[in-house]
This record gives sequence, structure tokens and C-alpha cells, in this order.
Amino acid sequence: MSNLAVSIIGAGFVGLTTAVVFAHKGIKTICVEIDKDRLNILKGRKAPFYEPDLDSMLKDCIDNNTISFTDDIDYAINNSNITFICVGTPQRDDGSIDLKYVRSAAISIGKALIDKSGYHLIVIKSTVTPGTNHMVKKVIEEYSNKRFGKDFGIISNPEFLREGSAIYDTLNPNFLLIGADNDRDAEILEELYTLLYKPNIPKIIKVNTYTAELVKYAINSFLATKISFINTIANICQRLPSVDVNTVASIIGLDPRIGPLFLKAGPGYGGSCLPKDVNALINFSKALGYDPILFKTVQEVNRLQKDAVLGLVNKLIENIEGKTIAVLGLAFKKDSDDIRESVSIKIIKDLLDKGCRVKVHDPMAIENAKKVFKDSIIYCKDKYECISDSDCCIILTEWDEYKELEPEHFKSMKSPIVIDARRVLDHEKFIDKVRFAAVGLGYKELLDYKIPSVSVNAIIEDKGKVLLVKRRKEPFKGYWSLPGGYVEYGESVEEALRREVKEEVGIDIEIDRLLNVYSDPFRHIAKHTIAIVYKASIVNGKISNNEEISDAKFFSKEEIPEILAFDHKKMIEDYLKV
Ligand code: UDX
Repeated sequence: MSNLAVSIIGAGFVGLTTAVVFAHKGIKTICVEIDKDRLNILKGRKAPFYEPDLDSMLKDCIDNNTISFTDDIDYAINNSNITFICVGTPQRDDGSIDLKYVRSAAISIGKALIDKSGYHLIVIKSTVTPGTNHMVKKVIEEYSNKRFGKDFGIISNPEFLREGSAIYDTLNPNFLLIGADNDRDAEILEELYTLLYKPNIPKIIKVNTYTAELVKYAINSFLATKISFINTIANICQRLPSVDVNTVASIIGLDPRIGPLFLKAGPGYGGSCLPKDVNALINFSKALGYDPILFKTVQEVNRLQKDAVLGLVNKLIENIEGKTIAVLGLAFKKDSDDIRESVSIKIIKDLLDKGCRVKVHDPMAIENAKKVFKDSIIYCKDKYECISDSDCCIILTEWDEYKELEPEHFKSMKSPIVIDARRVLDHEKFIDKVRFAAVGLGYKELLDYKIPSVSVNAIIEDKGKVLLVKRRKEPFKGYWSLPGGYVEYGESVEEALRREVKEEVGIDIEIDRLLNVYSDPFRHIAKHTIAIVYKASIVNGKISNNEEISDAKFFSKEEIPEILAFDHKKMIEDYLKV
């Protein structure tokens, strides 16, 4: 069969990409799209969504007359010998797969086949749960009065293309998976792919239809598992000194049993496939009487990962209500305008709920975000406008243009706080210059980044000797206690504090002035601790002072209640016992 002609039902992401790739290789392709708006966009020589190279290839194919668009499925079936079903398979409210579009495509194909002579091959490319091939077979037999194997065949042929590199992935697949119940059908599709890929035909793997259908879910669930795995490791790294999840990932990826791909920690996976497919597999397994707890956990880890990002924000900003947050990146991944299940969108919703003012930028996805947020957020024309005058900047999509950002670009912020949730920035450059946190970046860097203020709880003995319980403000984790120490005889509290901090963390600090004296019985185990809070600056570090000192209740010196002074002696004794 050298005059193979192809029809494709559904000009969505998979369908249109597949159609354009076939047509670009000179194979006559008819694309069926029933959504009138989408059809008009296509007839107007444009792709209805962004995908690198898609627009230009589409125009070439229209000019070369190798692709056409219609809503007439009869016409498409009668003028092709292979039909690809590429319709959407959305999820229902309970997470299970909704096959209504596959079923209605099968009904339309069945009706169109009634008057068609000659063998017709139907290829299911949509992601469908095992057994769907058999359902489609029955529906087509019922509506066409034709027989499977004699008049028509059905193949399961899932795709593995990624948004953002869909054209490349379709042209360069790692392998082709053909799930067929008879050899004849597999051979027809093999012939088409030989025509498409010659002379470099990818490895073709032939299996039964159930296996092909399951493999698609197995791959996407494995990818999701890898991402939730590395995000879990990232969350552990953040709690360790000097550990970077990127280093951990690059090392474990050297083990051929693990491999280097899909080990990029971030805000969690999104998109139209991974979340939906993991959900569908969970529901499908449950219907089979098996509870796939692994995938439920993968999903839960992913759901919570956005909170890990918000946790970084909360650690650097004590109260985010009313703050202006700049969000760089809306799409679920770079080189795409797709915001479906994008973690960025979920985080923006959370920020709005918390009373933040949100400014956003994305090179491609602004128009889609406008449909969700309307005028509740501020859309910026470039990244610099977005960053400017904000209190905190969160990078949530790994667009190449964000990788070019330097610390200087954040100077226009009120007080630069940068959260790199996608690890696009070189943290070494940033940690000394702005308040910085990143997914999977251990806290040593943050300690090194310097202490914006230092305070000391001074428990004062009545005979002039002072026991210090020092605390330092560590931007990543809020307040953190250093071991206690003494004010030596003849030493002022300031001198003692300077000496102790130098001994313990190796940093010279200069005490600017006594800010306040406070007591907060509820925050301290030793009930009546009096804390003397100093504003300190770092002499050999780079950070300026920060007067925000915890949410502790402050008393002026004069206001310290009498009762707080009564048993310091006992407290010192207790402390010394420990
Ligand atoms: C996925 C599958 O990769 C593809 O085979 C299938 O056909 C469709 O679903 P896609 O949804 O386009 O493709 O994107 P993918 O590159 O897989 O990324 C999915 C999500 O995981 C994105 O949000 C991405 O940012 C995230 N991700 C990916 C990570 O967080 N870390 C990684 O290491 C890889």
C-alpha cells in the first residue's frame, strides 16, 4: 500500500502534532476537529496552542496541500485508510478516566464505515485504560455492521511525546509501541511508520492491546514516581547543612539502575498527563480490586510539594498578608503555554487566599492565566516589570530567560527575597546578595549568607554575672538558639555577645544599639526569661541590618513587669544544673 492516507480525529495536542508530522513527511493527512472555534483557527493557518515549530510546519503543510481540516468525519474516513483516534480522555470528578469522547469517536467511525469498501485500520493514540481497545471494537462492529479482522482492524499505539518538545519527540521516538490482536493490523501500521521514519526507523515493539494500553500508564506513573522521589529527597536536603539535591541527583543518576532523567526537584509535576494518568491508574487498579498505595503516595507527595515552596516563602517573610509577590512562570513547564494542573496556578491561588498582591510573568501563558484569574492579579509584560517593587519573587517555571537573571536584576524589589523553586539560578551568585532560598538547597548556604540580626536572651544574675542564651535569626528557619555562655566579669553584655558569636559561628558582629528588652513567657520554657535584643550588623559579611525581630511580645525596659525579675537566680541555678 503506497498510497496510504491518514485521518486524525481530534486536533488537540497529540492529534495536531501527529498530523503535522505525517503531513510534513508528505503523507496525505485529514484532521477532524468538531470544535468550531478550533477548526477556524486551524483553517486560518494557525495552531490553537503554542508548541515549538508547530506553527511554521503547519503553514508548510497547508501550502503543500498535505494537510486539511474538516469537521466531517464521513469525509475523513472515506478518504483515508488509517484513522487515528486522538481525542481527549479527561478525568471524572472521582479521578477515573472518562472515555466518552473515545466512545463517540468510535460511534462516528462505525457509522462512516457502513458505506466504505476496503479494509480500514483504526489506531487508538489517546491514553486509555486497558480494555478500551475491545470496547471500541464492539462499538464499531455495532454501528458499522462490519466485522473486526475482516473489514476493519484496531490497534493501540500510545504516544510518549512531551509538551514543549512534541514535534521533536514525534520525529525521534525512543521506540514505537504497537498493540495489536492480529498480525495484519500491525503490519499496516508498520508500513505507515516505515514510510514516515525511513531511513531511520525506530525500534518497533509489538505486543497485545492490553499490554500497550498499560505500558502508557506504567511509563507516566513511573515518571511521576521519580519526580515525587526526588522532591522528597529535596525536602530532606533542605533540612541538612550544605547538601544540594542537584548534586545528589547527578550522582544517583550515574547508577545505570536509576538513570539521570526526571530527577529534577521542583514545585511538583503538572500538565495534562502525569497528574491525570496517575489518578486514572489508581482508579483503574481499585476497580480491579487492588489498592495501589505507592501511586497514592506519589500523588500525595506531589500535592504537598507546593506547600514546601510556600514554606520557603514563609520562612523568609514572616507575614505575607498584604505583601506583593512576583511569580515568574505560569506554564506547567517551559516552552509551553499550557497551565493545566500547573503548580504555579495553585500557588497563586494560595497567595491570593492569604491576602497577597500577585504580579505574574510568563513568556507564553499569560493569555491562558487571564481566563483563570481575570483582573485579580497583575500581568506584566516582562520579567523585570514583574520583579520590580515586589516583596518576594518566586520562580515557578524553568523558562530559559529566567536562567539569565542576575542578583542585580532583583535590586528593584523592596528588599530582595528570591525563591528558586525550579533551580534555574546559580545559588552561589545569589546567597550573598539577596535573601535566597531554593527547593532542595541545604541550609548551610543560608547560614553562610549571614545573620540579619542577632539577639540575646540575657538571664541576669543579681550579683553582676550574666548568663547568656544567645539566639540568632536565621532567615531560613526563623529563630535558632546558640548555646549559652557567660558575660565575664568586667565585660559588658555587648562585648560578651560579640565574643560568644565569634567563638561559636566565627563571625564578627558589631552591636549597633540596644533595641529593646522583651519577655514572652509563652515562647520560653524558662518562664521569665528576659531577652535583650540587639540590632547587630556583620563586619566581615555583606548583609545589612534587619530590624524585624520575631513575633515576640516586646516590653520597653520600664515596662518589664516586676514579677519577671523575681527568680532569675533560680533560673541560673536550674540552667547550670543542666
Ligand atoms: C508527559 C510524559 O513525559 C509524556 O511521555 C506523555 O506522553 C505525556 O506526559 P508532559 O506532560 O508534556 O509529558 O511533560 P513532562 O516533561 O513529562 O513533565 C511533566 C511535569 O513534571 C512538568 O510539570 C515538569 O515540570 C515536571 N518535572 C519533569 C519535574 O518536576 N521534574 C523532572 O525531572 C521532570
